[in-house]
Amino acid sequence: MQEKLNGIAASARTDISMAQSQEDLKKIQVTYLGKKGKITAVLRGMGQLSPEERPLIGSLANKIRDELAALFAERELQLRKEEQEKRIEAEKVDITLPGRPQELGHFHPLTMVMDEIADIFLGLGFSIVDGPEVETDYYNFEALNIPKDHPARDMQDSFYFNPEMLLRTHTSPVQVHTMEKVAPQVPVRIIAPGKVYRRDDDATHSPMFHQVEGLVIDHNVSLADLKGTLLLFAQQMFGSHQQVRLRPSFFPFTEPSAEVDISCMMCHGKGCRVCKDTGWIEILGSGMVHPHVLEMSGYDPEVYTGYAFGMGVERIAMLKYGVDDLRLFFLNDIRMLRQFR
Ligand code: FA5
Ligand code: MG
Repeated sequence: MQEKLNGIAASARTDISMAQSQEDLKKIQVTYLGKKGKITAVLRGMGQLSPEERPLIGSLANKIRDELAALFAERELQLRKEEQEKRIEAEKVDITLPGRPQELGHFHPLTMVMDEIADIFLGLGFSIVDGPEVETDYYNFEALNIPKDHPARDMQDSFYFNPEMLLRTHTSPVQVHTMEKVAPQVPVRIIAPGKVYRRDDDATHSPMFHQVEGLVIDHNVSLADLKGTLLLFAQQMFGSHQQVRLRPSFFPFTEPSAEVDISCMMCHGKGCRVCKDTGWIEILGSGMVHPHVLEMSGYDPEVYTGYAFGMGVERIAMLKYGVDDLRLFFLNDIRMLRQFR
């Protein structure tokens, strides 16, 4: 019995010293000192011993139990300290290291160009309005004098949800929303920047791009007002040497209509690769608001006249920054975008 107890004590000492964690140690403690533990089992078997042996074994067992209890407590303290040290080491920060600077972001070049366009027109007394990107056929086409079978629809091959709903192909429907809201009040003097969508995809055409619509309605608004305003815009955007020219064109919702070119900023009108040797670059479509369009949205065309324009923001950004592929704006390549900081 004595030998057995001493054997148990010896193996307990080894186990305690080998325990690798507090959790480990707890388990070991239960195996030896728990209710069903090895020492407890010996003490239970004492009934079979002779009366002379009993106190001897009893006191030995108590001695061993006390010794082991002390060993467990000591080892536990040790392990707790080790674990704490490990945790502190893992969380350690060197407060003498220099800080890591947060990299500041900046606006996307297209946002910068849109802001610049907005600033110029705000300075001319325009206000900014917003319109939905999902449009009905009526606002995107019909109310702009483009009936269902009109060939002008082909030039704006579109994303439809159903025959009556589509992603707007231009910002011109905002003209209609605005007129419906404020008619027959004048003056109307708004720009409407935003995203538009077409089934296009090449170096100068993206399926999603941005336009800024302009609309002015008042008494006695003329083509001269349109040209003067756009000349001012071009000179503020690209430089005071800029010229603009109006080239006859066609839009169903304006009459007369004009495509507006600015003098080529690469060659200053002499002719180069960028302007295809013409000296001019197209930046937008425009015209006098068609009487039928005015009438449909609540303005008497006998009393009021107006002009409208729609410019491609990517096109303007490409010209301003000398970018030759519009898709670069949408690749999210940080090396490209960083240049606009
Ligand atoms: C229009 O969208 C007319 N709504 C503009 C207008 C408004 C005319 C008001 C009269 C009165 P157009 O389809 O030409 O017109 O587009 C206008 C400009 O958008 C173009 O000059 C071009 O700069 C730009 N653009 C057209 N398609 C794309 C495209 N897929 N990707 C990038 N820019 C485009
Ligand atoms: Mg065009």
